[in-house]
Amino acid sequence: MKDRLESMQRSAHAALAQADSEAALQEVRIRFLGRKGEMTAIMKEMGALSPEERPLVGALANRIKDDLESALEERLASLREEEISRRLTLERIDVTLPGRRPFSGSKHPITLVTEEISEIFASLGFGIQEGPEVEKDLYNFEALNMPKDHPARDMQDTFYISDEVVLRTHTSPVQIRTMLQHAPPVRVIAPGTVYRRDSDITHSPMFHQIEGFLVDRKVTFGDLKGILTAFINQYFGRGTGVRFRPSFFPFTEPSAEVDIQCVICGGKGCRVCKNSGWLEILGSGMIDPEVFKAVNYDPAVYSGFAFGMGLERIAMLRYGVSDLRLFFENDLRFLKQFS
Ligand code: DAH
Repeated sequence: MKDRLESMQRSAHAALAQADSEAALQEVRIRFLGRKGEMTAIMKEMGALSPEERPLVGALANRIKDDLESALEERLASLREEEISRRLTLERIDVTLPGRRPFSGSKHPITLVTEEISEIFASLGFGIQEGPEVEKDLYNFEALNMPKDHPARDMQDTFYISDEVVLRTHTSPVQIRTMLQHAPPVRVIAPGTVYRRDSDITHSPMFHQIEGFLVDRKVTFGDLKGILTAFINQYFGRGTGVRFRPSFFPFTEPSAEVDIQCVICGGKGCRVCKNSGWLEILGSGMIDPEVFKAVNYDPAVYSGFAFGMGLERIAMLRYGVSDLRLFFENDLRFLKQFS
C-alpha cells in the first residue's frame, strides 16, 4: 500500500506540473484527492492492513495528502502569477509614445480676409458695424435710391421673405441703419453675409461683402481716392496699380469702379484678368444726396463716400484660389491650408 500511495503521489506531481490552467488544476485535485479519487480508493483498502501497519500507512497518507494539497496551492499561485505577467506584457502601454493630437481648427479664408481688411480700415479710423441678414426692403433698396422698378430689385436677384422683407442683397443697408442712428461724422465699415438668387461656377447664392462709408463736412472724391488707394497699397502691396473707372450705382453720384493691376500676371494680361491686365475689386462713389435725405442728413452741409467689395473675389486673388465653390464646400484639405 505504501508503494501505491507513493506512486500515486508521483503521478499526481507529474499531472500538476502539466496542468496549465485553473480548470486543469481542479481536474487534478478531483482525480487524486476527490471523494471518488485515487487517494480515497487506496484508503478504502486500509481495513486489510494489520493493526501495526495501519497507523503508519495512515500517517503516510496524511503527509501525502498535505503535500499534494500544498503543491496544488503552489501551482495555482504560480499559474495566477503567470497569467498576471502575461496580461501585463500583452496590455503594456508605452507611456512615452507621443499622444495623438486633436485637429485644431483654423480660420476660414473668408474670415481671414474680413479680419485683415477690417484691421486696415480700423487703422484708418473706421469703426465696425453689423446689420441683419434679413432686411427691410426699405433699407436694402428704397432708402438707397432704388425705386420700385429698378432692375436690381428684380425677382431674379432677390430672395423675398415678404413684400417688405428680403434677404439683404448687399451690405449697403448698413449705411442706412448706421446713419439713422448716428449723426455725422461717421466712418464705418460693415462686413457681412449677403444673398442673391444666383448660382453657377462664379456665383454663390450666399457670399460676403465689406461695405465702407465716411460722411463729414467737405468730404471730396479726392478723399475717396486717397483712402481706397491707401487700402489697396496696404492690402495688395505698395505700388499696386490702381485705376478708377466711371460707373453707375443708384446710391452714389458720381460712381466709380476700382480696378487693381492684375495680381496674377502683374498687368501683362492673363486668363484671370481676361488679358486686360486689370481686375475689378470694388464699387464706390460719393453718397447720393437722395440717400442723405432718407436718413435726415443735410446734403447741403455733409458729403461722403461709400464703397463695397465682394470678399470671395478678393480671397481668390489673395490666395490664388481658382474655384469659388471651394469656399463653401468646407473640405478640410482646403481649409487646413489656411491654418
Ligand atoms: N452694393 C453694391 C453691390 O453689391 C456695391 C457698392 C457699390 C457699394 C458702390 C457701395 C458703393 O457702397 O458706393 O454691388
